[in-house]
Amino acid sequence: MTNSAASKSVAERPPLIQDIARIREDFPILKQTVHGKPLVYLDNAATTQKPQVVIDTLVRYYTTENSNVHRGVHYLSEQATQDYESARTKIRRLLNASDDCEIIFTRGATEGINLVAHSYGRQHIGEGDEIIISAMEHHSNIVPWQILCQEKGARLRVIPINDDGELLMDDYAKLLGHRTKLVSIVHLSNSLGTINPIEQIVEMAHSYGVPVLVDGAQAVPHLPVDVRRLGCDFYVFSGHKLFGPTGIGAVYGRAELLDSMPPYQGGGDMIKSVTFEKTLYNSLPYKFEAGTPNIAGAIGLGAAIDYFTALELDKICAYEHELLKYGTKRLSTIGSLRLIGTAREKAGILSFVIEGIHAHDIGTILDSEGIAIRTGHHCTQPVMDRFGVPATARASLAFYNTKADIDALVKGLDRVLEIFS
Ligand code: ALA
Repeated sequence: MTNSAASKSVAERPPLIQDIARIREDFPILKQTVHGKPLVYLDNAATTQKPQVVIDTLVRYYTTENSNVHRGVHYLSEQATQDYESARTKIRRLLNASDDCEIIFTRGATEGINLVAHSYGRQHIGEGDEIIISAMEHHSNIVPWQILCQEKGARLRVIPINDDGELLMDDYAKLLGHRTKLVSIVHLSNSLGTINPIEQIVEMAHSYGVPVLVDGAQAVPHLPVDVRRLGCDFYVFSGHKLFGPTGIGAVYGRAELLDSMPPYQGGGDMIKSVTFEKTLYNSLPYKFEAGTPNIAGAIGLGAAIDYFTALELDKICAYEHELLKYGTKRLSTIGSLRLIGTAREKAGILSFVIEGIHAHDIGTILDSEGIAIRTGHHCTQPVMDRFGVPATARASLAFYNTKADIDALVKGLDRVLEIFS
């Protein structure tokens, strides 16, 4: 099925809330049973499920179009190049960037952050400089900066969070200063669900002339993202959290910044000309896309964006907000359960601990009931340290989840409590 067919079939549907059962039909995996029980998939922050149209797009690409991009004059290569570049345009529109050249394909959000750390970071950060992150960052938004700091003799500064999992903005204001060279911050926390005030964070950083990278891995599937309204300088996300394939994502970067940055990797596509004496680099965005890219992944992500945008984001947000409220209320009735992450601005995540029961045991028992959640530190060990827990159990939502899924989770937790009583 083509991408335009995908958006047409979704656009023909009535509004989301009335039609959730029909939307679930688009996700073949949700029809499965696991351990003899209907699958209840509540691990969307780890990865989202794929609608049939994304699966069909991948099959169609490999069946009828497979070839390399930007390299052939033949029909297949031209078709693949056109679809690959059209996926870039879809990302540009999704993020409301100004130009396609500001969208760089990567393997995902992690590679996006590493790209900026290697390229912008190495160019601009030196001894005694400071990079500001927050206490709720994913390891992907900690480790690349630690590596850079070690290499350059720079210092990582961390904005603390309160007991609800909200940033302490006064502390942020105090950390900003003439030594600050970059702020890198998560938009929506994967382990707490906190939505950070990005516009304010950017405005404060820009008043010192400091650029801001936003890790949007969790935000893009749940919130409207407009990079021009946010004012950020870089924004990264992963396709697989947006109902697309794994191994594909993108970095948005302001053209002016990307233009002035050195390449991240060397190889094909990122060159204009090569001699043994000197290499001239390609223009944006290709300067940052060395080697044969994940063509199928990019085209599949394009199909996922068509599907997602046709559902209308404001309806998705309102629906997920209701689900989160319902889930919070239902989980709060369990006396021994403590929610970790109770920010006023929050989306999609129900992280919790139950007194006397390890999160892994909770996850294993729920799995035997067909319920998929994630347990552990969620690649945010400093968050676990902040809340004094080794791990949490985390249910994470998507628009295809229902109140019945939450009810199944609560019933599964009753079973956990029964086993441990
Ligand atoms: N970062 C992903 C998660 O939160 C893998 O589960």
